[in-house]
Amino acid sequence: MKPEVVLTILIVTILGMAMEGCHCKMVQFIFGDSLSDVGNNRYLSRSLATANLPWYGIDFGNGLPNGRFSNGRTVADITGDMMGLPRPPAFLDPSLTEDMILENGVNYASGGAGILNETGGYFIQKFTLYKQIELYQGTQQLIINKIGKEAAQQFFQEARYVVALGSNDFINNYLMPVYNDSWKYNDQGFVQYLMETLQRQITILHSLGAREMVVFGLGPMGCIPLQRVLSTSGECQDRTNRLAKSFNKATSQLVDNLSRKLTNSSIKFGDAYDVVNDLITNPRKYGFNNSDSPCCSFGRIRPALTCIPASVLCKDRSKYVFWDEYHPSDSANELIANELIKKFGFLRVNDSNAPSPAPAAAPTSGAAPSPHN
Ligand SMILES: *[C@@H]1O[C@H](CO)[C@@H](O)[C@H](O)[C@H]1NC(C)=O
Ligand SMILES: *[C@@H]1O[C@H](CO)[C@@H](O)[C@H](O)[C@H]1NC(C)=O
Ligand SMILES: *[C@@H]1O[C@H](CO)[C@@H](O)[C@H](O)[C@H]1NC(C)=O
Ligand SMILES: *[C@@H]1O[C@H](CO)[C@@H](O)[C@H](O)[C@H]1NC(C)=O
Ligand SMILES: *[C@@H]1O[C@H](CO)[C@@H](O)[C@H](O)[C@H]1NC(C)=O
Ligand SMILES: *[C@@H]1O[C@H](CO)[C@@H](O)[C@H](O)[C@H]1NC(C)=O
Repeated sequence: MKPEVVLTILIVTILGMAMEGCHCKMVQFIFGDSLSDVGNNRYLSRSLATANLPWYGIDFGNGLPNGRFSNGRTVADITGDMMGLPRPPAFLDPSLTEDMILENGVNYASGGAGILNETGGYFIQKFTLYKQIELYQGTQQLIINKIGKEAAQQFFQEARYVVALGSNDFINNYLMPVYNDSWKYNDQGFVQYLMETLQRQITILHSLGAREMVVFGLGPMGCIPLQRVLSTSGECQDRTNRLAKSFNKATSQLVDNLSRKLTNSSIKFGDAYDVVNDLITNPRKYGFNNSDSPCCSFGRIRPALTCIPASVLCKDRSKYVFWDEYHPSDSANELIANELIKKFGFLRVNDSNAPSPAPAAAPTSGAAPSPHN
């Protein structure tokens, strides 16, 4: 062994000992909505936003519903895999333990959640972003009790953080007259209100130890099937798309500002608006075949709010941009994740820690029940 190698090992060993023996892994903590939920809402018995029934999860693992609002993986599943990080379990997963948290992190994302507390009120039960941050504080306490304050601080500072919310603040709040935000604000004022709130939330996360954060922007949410059915022509809702763009622009600035202001932080913003917009306009260019209707739908009675067991599935799920009325398919999520990783400029954190190929069942034309078209 070369002397410098021995020296390095010695230094690493001494440093390791000095840090209360925190041989911590790098893990992720995920804050989000249904686009990132991996099962929290399944355990919220009164939530009206759930993905507990077939055909959710049909292209993931054993094919049974797992709480993801997709046929396969979420965008955060895929970006995490690409960085070589383990997939964090849902906060409400009954088997969650301190050891699991130290190995895998935690996912607090909850369907129906928004940046704002008042968003998604009619889903009754969900974790808003503020609530998710409170739950994260609880997680910190558990880990401090388990490994001590210093080691815990190191663990939480080294972790990666994903913050991915915003679409419900528009779709299930501002754009719906039953919510008073829709008449209290104009477009610009509402985006400003979201930015002030998000600024507070990111600052709280930083004060709790978060250093490496990524913030996901919004896609062309005026083109989700649920928005298209609002017009007789089935076109994308321009106003909704303009709101998504102005949210993205403001969030990008906010993230730049905060990244400079918050000590030792690295906060990155990424959206896949343009590439998804192009995918929706030219699906065939990307190997897709349908970009305006859900793969899982309840026949002509649309919009059925969720995909249900009586729904009919498209023949080839990998060729549909949308899985249900709201959510992209596994294959669209892969495209989105690739774009985000490109924007973040991320490489794998750990090449020796390759993730298992996912999803276990590839999202190709499988034996779909009752295929149509
Ligand atoms: C708006 O709605 C929220 C509940 O979502 C309520 O707490 C608040 O008082 C309402 N504000 C006004 C001005 O009606
Ligand atoms: C949002 O809800 C949390 C509880 O989850 C509460 O602590 C906080 O004060 C609320 N914030 C606002 C701005 O309403
Ligand atoms: C970011 O900072 C610039 C310059 O200080 C300011 O003009 C802008 O409003 C800030 N944007 C956000 C979203 O905070
Ligand atoms: C920032 O990083 C430096 C070097 O690692 C460290 O000494 C300092 O305490 C950090 N400051 C904060 C606020 O985390
Ligand atoms: C795409 O859809 C058209 C009609 O909807 C069909 O004829 C064609 O075979 C499909 N192509 C693929 C690759 O699935
Ligand atoms: C990298 O991978 C190795 C081997 O799988 C593992 O022991 C180590 O904890 C990983 N490091 C990080 C930062 O995840």
